[in-house]
Amino acid sequence: MSHASPNVPSADRRDFLKATLAVTLAGGPFGALAVASPSTRRVGPNGKLAVAKIACGGMGAADLAEVAKHPDVVIVGLCDVDGNTLDGVGKDDKGNDPYKGTPKFRDWRQMLGNLGDKVDAVVISTPDHSHALASLEAMRMKKHVYTQKPLARSAGENRLLAESAKVNPTLVTQMGTQRSARSSRRFAYELVKRGVVGKIKAMHAWTDRPAGWWPSGQPRPTGNDPVPEWLSWDLWLGPAPVRPYVSGAYHPFKWRGTRDFGTGAFGDMACHILDLPFYALGLGYPTEVHCDAPDGTDDQYPNQETVRMKFAPTPMTASDGCELVWFDGGRLPDWTALGLSPELAPSGKGLPTDNIKPLPNDGAAILVGDAGVLVIPIEGELAFAFIDGKLTRFDKSDDRPNGIEVPKSTNHWHDWVDACLGRGKARAPFELAGLLCEALAVGAVASRYVGRTMTYDPKQIAFVGEADSKKFLAPSWRTGW
Ligand SMILES: NC(=O)c1ccc[n+]([C@@H]2O[C@H](COP(=O)([O-])OP(=O)(O)OC[C@H]3O[C@@H](n4cnc5c(N)ncnc54)[C@H](O)[C@@H]3O)[C@@H](O)[C@H]2O)c1
Repeated sequence: MSHASPNVPSADRRDFLKATLAVTLAGGPFGALAVASPSTRRVGPNGKLAVAKIACGGMGAADLAEVAKHPDVVIVGLCDVDGNTLDGVGKDDKGNDPYKGTPKFRDWRQMLGNLGDKVDAVVISTPDHSHALASLEAMRMKKHVYTQKPLARSAGENRLLAESAKVNPTLVTQMGTQRSARSSRRFAYELVKRGVVGKIKAMHAWTDRPAGWWPSGQPRPTGNDPVPEWLSWDLWLGPAPVRPYVSGAYHPFKWRGTRDFGTGAFGDMACHILDLPFYALGLGYPTEVHCDAPDGTDDQYPNQETVRMKFAPTPMTASDGCELVWFDGGRLPDWTALGLSPELAPSGKGLPTDNIKPLPNDGAAILVGDAGVLVIPIEGELAFAFIDGKLTRFDKSDDRPNGIEVPKSTNHWHDWVDACLGRGKARAPFELAGLLCEALAVGAVASRYVGRTMTYDPKQIAFVGEADSKKFLAPSWRTGW
């Protein structure tokens, strides 16, 4: 493992990003992003896609395994700030090492700088606060990019990624929302697109997070533990403000509830629940947001919340737009008000006579249209609707031969690899994912303004009349990053 300073000067990155940000915030033509001529797509040795992997633990291990399984991929570099994870990456119980000889790094800047042209594509699975800079740098270096959901932590970072993708159309980008490639979700997308319950006026959605999953609603953890030799804490913090290492408080996994690092339950789970409805309805920036929550702190998101957001009309929504009502931490929609049986609740019995299970704790979306209510579970079950109070299914089956064909599941990671190799299209490109995740980031920040209805100004990436909101919504990176 090499510890030299990164080869890509930080000044170059900052100039690129400053220019990007200036143009993005000005709502201009985004010309400054086109820092190089359109990439000539290159493919690595033997026609294989040469992939560098940033973050190899947690979801990073799954991302690596799935991408590496593709027969036309070669892994050319591995990076993780956790030395134990990096040492063990890919090894089986007997110590067999599929990555023997593959260069390993603790600093992604060093990896991209050192490997340079040997890399065609980058897969990023760090905690949320490190997504944006790594993704932007990869795009600046003309690499295809796969970045875990949520695309980025702050609203402004999401905007930068969406705009960077727009002006670099030869780069294949995809957010890591693997559920979106599954047949049930692709089917739901099809139903929303076809307007099966008419023009949509509201979406209600939930997840059971964060309770029992990660710490939330607490002041900043106290203490200052010695940083273990195997962890590069300063690199883990990356662009986030410096704070002491506290054993077990953040790394691994538990960082999600901390505002500097994650996006709370809303940002974490709504990517999987609202992505396809959001894309199918063609929603844009939110116009208004309101949060009701008992216990958010300056450091952490709340333990539970109800977030209401408004979106401007699109051809798929009611003429006065669409409202989103989000519940987490044990809060759930009002089934009766939606005209649904309370037995659909995760704790209910479902509708056994119709072979419908209770909806999952993980979450679901309920779309209220002018012709009915469409229910889209997070995964597994096919979406179904109630039209005039009657259960309606839409799939093709023996008793519904004229129904809609259920698309087959694909492998989300392989969709992206294939698209990089010029075959097919990525399913969740940054242009779409960035717009969705900007909205979710705005919703997440609303828990700092509990009980107040905030108007979102997408040009300023701020709440109208709230100067301090800029620092929560716009990108802000530690000096040196
Ligand atoms: N798509 C999904 O279903 C899914 C599931 C879980 C997590 N995720 C996403 O994956 C990301 C990671 O979540 P997680 O649960 O795996 O977190 P985690 O904390 O468990 O693992 C993160 C890994 O990244 C490494 N890391 C941290 N900072 C790094 C850096 N700057 N450079 C290189 N490596 C770094 C850590 O050492 C660790 O190995 C998050 O964005 C999360 O939202 C997605």
